Amino acid sequence: MRVLFVASECFPLIKTGGLADVIGALPRALTAAGDDARVLLPAFPAVKNAALKQKKMSEIKDIIGGDAVLLSATAPTGVKLYLLDAPHLFDVAGNPYQGADGNDRPDNHKRFAALAKVGASLAHGQLDGKWQADILHAHDWQAGLASAYLSLLPAPRPKTVFTIHNLAFQGLFPKTTFGDLGLPSSMFNQSGLEYWDQVGFLKAGIIYSDHTTTVSPTYAREIQTDDGGMGLGGLLKSRAAHVSGITNGIDTEVWDPEVDASLAAPFSLKVPAGKAKNKTALQQQLGLEVDKDAPLFCVISRLTEQKGLDLLAGAIPHIIGNGGQLAVLGTGDKDLEAAFQKAGQSHKGRIATIIGYDEPLAHLIQAGADAIFVPSRFEPCGLTQLCALRYGTVPIVARVGGLADTIVDTNDAALMAGAGNGIQFSPVTFDSLIAAIDRFFALFRDKRTFSAIRKRGMKQDVSWQQPADRYRQIYLTLLNHTN
Ligand code: ADP
Ligand code: GLC
Repeated sequence: MRVLFVASECFPLIKTGGLADVIGALPRALTAAGDDARVLLPAFPAVKNAALKQKKMSEIKDIIGGDAVLLSATAPTGVKLYLLDAPHLFDVAGNPYQGADGNDRPDNHKRFAALAKVGASLAHGQLDGKWQADILHAHDWQAGLASAYLSLLPAPRPKTVFTIHNLAFQGLFPKTTFGDLGLPSSMFNQSGLEYWDQVGFLKAGIIYSDHTTTVSPTYAREIQTDDGGMGLGGLLKSRAAHVSGITNGIDTEVWDPEVDASLAAPFSLKVPAGKAKNKTALQQQLGLEVDKDAPLFCVISRLTEQKGLDLLAGAIPHIIGNGGQLAVLGTGDKDLEAAFQKAGQSHKGRIATIIGYDEPLAHLIQAGADAIFVPSRFEPCGLTQLCALRYGTVPIVARVGGLADTIVDTNDAALMAGAGNGIQFSPVTFDSLIAAIDRFFALFRDKRTFSAIRKRGMKQDVSWQQPADRYRQIYLTLLNHTN
């Protein structure tokens, strides 16, 4: 099958979150299974600087306010790419969506409409004389209009899949922007891309695609409710037969503690000793007291409301009062950044806060920590708990979305059955977080049980192999439908 991914991020070229990890890894897994999966990305400066073997494919005249060139290229990981080189839209350094002032860029609707439009033409066979797609697979609101544009091109057309990585980001724009998109006015209504008198890019993805997926089965259920649907619950429920949840994997070559160049020492299930060396190295590097017996907790996250880290900030006295340490790596809301920075200054040697985005440090933290917190209020899938499992770090997670699907709570029944790879808590409140922390302290003291939990996590299959197969089944089912 020939599959065209359309997305705004792809690891290791450009990344603000888990979307990039998925776009970097899933096409590789599909290719390994025998498919021809390619990714269309905006040619942001970071992408142009890092993509290999760039070659001009075609010129595109007047794409939403200027001319562009479509390049073919290859990611350092081997993924085949198409790059939309449209300097009037994408020649901006830094965050792909926001300006230096932290505000969304004013022309975001034009930028991502252009990406989607080019994705539709490319999938349809108009831009690469030698290639067209069987499946157009668009991701998140940035690619949400792709199937809408495709629906305007003549049949036969590729089948379309739209994946929601996070329903909180819906790509909503004032209705005055509709005229910039070059779509017929008949599409601006309730059964099209109109959303409460605004233009909804993510809504368009749901409406115009043959199938919608999201990144875990539990999140797929949550988004079909009033509470979790963020205004689109009714629509998603009405399309339930065309909505699936497939839990993400992680790239097990990028996240491999046996060969990871960011670690102080390699380790594995069979040779676990290196894990302790990473803990010491991490404590040294972050200025924490070097103490192998102090439970070392960590956070690697966007610091936002979604991630529930305000609750964790409140739990810091409890953590250090019980002999724990905490390493926080993240960036995001200024008040959360300030709260964790202040904690780091007040509790030197026990709390280390690093504000920023640091991929190698994220790897070392995963390797050196004993536990990772993911106390999210909602979490479509979450990837850091999967990396943690592979690196022998025990996840303490809120029982929501993909966290509920990937973490098995180590309660008494699970322990008796030889199961459990982490700790879940619910509801997402301060009190239940504290109770989860206390349960962790008890497990940590019980060395044999703790080592068994770690091992179970390290054994878990967190690769893309099974999820990629589920995507293939969806593609195949769509291709077997002729209408
Ligand atoms: P989300 O996409 O909602 O931010 P995920 O858990 O799906 O959450 O993915 C987050 C990804 O970004 C993971 O690969 C994680 O390791 C990485 N990450 C998050 N914050 C940082 C940071 N400050 N430095 C390095 N990597 C980070
Ligand atoms: C989003 C979600 C996260 C998910 C990621 C990749 O950023 O917030 O839960 O893991 O996309 O699908």
